[in-house]
Amino acid sequence: MTVQTVRTQPFSDQKPGTSGLRKQVPTFQKPHYLENFIQSIFDSLEGYQGQTLVVGGDGRYYNRQAIQTILKMAAANGFGRVLVGQGGILSTPAASCVIRKHQALGGIILSASHNPGGPQGDFGVKYNTGNGGPAPEKVTDAIFQRSQVIDEYKILDASDVDLDRIATYTLGNTRVEVIDAVTDYAALMEALFDFDQIQQFITSGNFRLCIDSLHAVTGPYAKAIFERRLNAPAGTVQNGEPLEDFGGGHPDPNLVYAKDLVKVMFGENAPDFGAASDGDGDRNMILGRNFFVTPSDSLAVLAANATLVPGYREGLAGIARSMPTSQAPDRVAAKLGIDCYETPTGWKFFGNLLDAGKATLCGEESFGTGSNHVREKDGLWAVLFWLNILAVRKQSVEEIVKDHWATYGRNIYSRHDYEEVASDRANDLMDTLRGKLSSLPGQTLGRYTVDYADDFSYTDPVDGSVSSKQGVRIGFTDGSRIVFRLSGTGTQGATLRLYLESYEADPAKHDQDPQDALGDLIQIADEVAQIQAKTGRDRPTVIT
Ligand code: G1P
Ligand code: ZN
Repeated sequence: MTVQTVRTQPFSDQKPGTSGLRKQVPTFQKPHYLENFIQSIFDSLEGYQGQTLVVGGDGRYYNRQAIQTILKMAAANGFGRVLVGQGGILSTPAASCVIRKHQALGGIILSASHNPGGPQGDFGVKYNTGNGGPAPEKVTDAIFQRSQVIDEYKILDASDVDLDRIATYTLGNTRVEVIDAVTDYAALMEALFDFDQIQQFITSGNFRLCIDSLHAVTGPYAKAIFERRLNAPAGTVQNGEPLEDFGGGHPDPNLVYAKDLVKVMFGENAPDFGAASDGDGDRNMILGRNFFVTPSDSLAVLAANATLVPGYREGLAGIARSMPTSQAPDRVAAKLGIDCYETPTGWKFFGNLLDAGKATLCGEESFGTGSNHVREKDGLWAVLFWLNILAVRKQSVEEIVKDHWATYGRNIYSRHDYEEVASDRANDLMDTLRGKLSSLPGQTLGRYTVDYADDFSYTDPVDGSVSSKQGVRIGFTDGSRIVFRLSGTGTQGATLRLYLESYEADPAKHDQDPQDALGDLIQIADEVAQIQAKTGRDRPTVIT
């Protein structure tokens, strides 16, 4: 086995976005494309010789080939040990767990999250640091800088490792351990939640649940935890076989893409509880019988009920939410007398708050919820958290959420996405909007008066780093908000996200359809940003 040093040239488009480098599969298949990016990651790290690296992915098309390349490159570059999930599988939260538990220097996660997979679908590479979390911007910037000047990479000339057998292999001077993908993660879940109580509850005969893995990475995790450990009936986990193309579906747990689950939960004789996860297992959608829990409300409910759950019995240090997430968690934090941090979009911004012990629970409106147990959002963790609360309170999902609204008021919320808009049109919309911001405060728009209008800038309270231009916010005097930002995870054109929120204190008005309740704000957003005129679209692609 010899180390080969291969000459290469930079690719100009290797700038990581909201969550790693995401491109269509054919881009990653270009000669040297993956290798350049991996070498750029290694070159940006310090002191990795002899250290441990974790590698795994969501099982999508190109996962196995990419892992073989990464193993040979890690060996050629002098890592001491590489831990890789069996079959090349590690959900994103499981990868975070493994990095932390085995004190790895970091990990490479292969995933394009909820984006479709397959030969023409998307692929992605993300580097996580030793705390188990997504690399912060200073690291991703360094990786990008390196990718722009790279002229060679190292790779071992060796045969492929058998990823399907749990065993330890030697690759050059590097030990490669193929580990069970589920064990460490399942043990962590068992340490946080009252599995006995959940088991009694879900096998009592009075409660039925349905878990949808959307043919993506959580299948093996969900079957091991719900069907085997917690004794839920066989078949509780649907679409539980991970497929390279996710069965042709779009593995995003929302009301549009988790169609099978929505049909079950909003059909006749629906189960009591339903949940779905995304491609790499970090997102979750929670449903009750005929009832949808918005992710922002889910975070608020988990926070308000956290002390019912063993892992959080001592209470929360603080809560953190991304800026576009509704302000429902802020109300819980205020009542608990703890801080609520508002961060830019993307899980990487929670890392410092979690590491510093300032926040215990975190969440994003984009179906992401998590805590300090790992440094990624965690879909099945959220499902178990809900089940633990249900097992203790013995009320329905709908009763728990409505009771929450009665206590705190309801932050009525929706997100409208305009996907695959031409980039120049989307940029023009945002630029024009930014140009208007200074004139908006004090103006009356419909029945609302603008309180503030800005482009969100965040100063990290731990390391003082500043992230600017994180989304345009228009806040009204009654606490309602409209937020505009462009997605940082798409691979084609631009996606405009419009986030809408209003507050309703009166329980008599809590049953409104959000699209009706937010109707005036939707119209104001279009007037202010000229969405229809500038995007050429008369309606959003996806409403959640
Ligand atoms: C989206 C979500 C964001 C999430 C990210 C990764 O990013 O909006 O909350 O952290 O995916 O799952 P966006 O496409 O909006 O940049
Ligand atoms: Zn994901």
